[in-house]
Amino acid sequence: MLEALTAQPQDKILQLIALYRDDPRPTKIDLGVGVYKDATGLTPVMRAVKAAERKLWEEETTKTYTGLAGDPAFNAAMVGMILGDGFADRAASVATPGGTGAIRQALELIRMANPAAKVWLSAPTWPNHPSIVRYLGMPMAEYRYFDAATSGIDFAGLLADLEGVAAGDAVLLHGCCHNPTGANLSPAEWDQVIALLQRKGAVPFVDLAYQGFGDGLEEDAAATRKIAAAFPEVLIAASCSKNFGIYRERTGVLIALTSSDRRAVVQGNLAFLNRQNYSFPPDHGARLVTMILADTALTADWKQELEEVRQNMLTLRSALADELRRATNSDRFDFVAHHRGMFSRLGLTEAEVTSLRDAHGIYMVGDSRMNIAGLNATTVPVLASAIAKVIG
Ligand code: LMR
Repeated sequence: MLEALTAQPQDKILQLIALYRDDPRPTKIDLGVGVYKDATGLTPVMRAVKAAERKLWEEETTKTYTGLAGDPAFNAAMVGMILGDGFADRAASVATPGGTGAIRQALELIRMANPAAKVWLSAPTWPNHPSIVRYLGMPMAEYRYFDAATSGIDFAGLLADLEGVAAGDAVLLHGCCHNPTGANLSPAEWDQVIALLQRKGAVPFVDLAYQGFGDGLEEDAAATRKIAAAFPEVLIAASCSKNFGIYRERTGVLIALTSSDRRAVVQGNLAFLNRQNYSFPPDHGARLVTMILADTALTADWKQELEEVRQNMLTLRSALADELRRATNSDRFDFVAHHRGMFSRLGLTEAEVTSLRDAHGIYMVGDSRMNIAGLNATTVPVLASAIAKVIG
């Protein structure tokens, strides 16, 4: 049986982890996978997470199963963090293994509810989006998003393409910190997108993996909140990997907003999907998040550390934009300072990305997506001068 299998394409982001690891050069720089690193290159366990873990170790008395939907306290805390008050009676929610798990469950829910629904993805998007949609055999379409000439949004292209959305289609939107480009819609642009999708009868599907990494914890949820208020049905896949730094704990949530009288049926379907795919979702990370969000002091400490992380990335963005201006004697890369989140797509060719890797030991995704958090004050000028060399 198994000889019928053929090799799968490697994930372009995860592939970089091994390439980087096997590079013996001590000066190598990893700007690949989206993991936050401090100035010493470490991905620290956040203080509040450590404190919650200590408390959990002392106080936890059982490891018996939680519910199929996960711990209701976690789901409620996540609905509150993402949407604020006022949505509890419309929100069905399940804990999932990370944000990817939430995306997978959301897509399966769409397919169960409406097999004809097309899933619209931004061009470009996180490569795992189309990969999962294709794997599930769902109809898929793309809308223009990024303007390579300006490294900003191709807003006219986006609006033109979304005119093709049919009623009931799901439109995947990055709630903040667009991955891979770093270019994000302005509040006025969000309003236009919302009006267009309302007119089309679309179901917005928000991927919120970086809340707190862009303009702030509340600010990064603003577009998602507007969408939640504007549509009768919304799917939201959120991750705690980045903002709580608990990547390997696989902690995420899928929220399905519906009418209050449909909520119980939708909730039952979400629990059913969990049961079919893995039964109970992982609990450890979800429990830590719940403990942090239920404790005023832990919440304050977590928010402070998250804000330090965000500010550090903003400082690196300005420093890199300044260095690139100097090194290339041009304003070609000024957009780096205006992008938000962990990533910026630099607009280098695949060959230039390869020479950064081969000649300079600098690793980024082939489409020239770089992880800003992989830099520090020492490596910013090193990267800028290497870029100037490869484009020169
Ligand atoms: C990324 O885009 O680098 C992260 O979301 C990690 C991943 O799973 O790809």
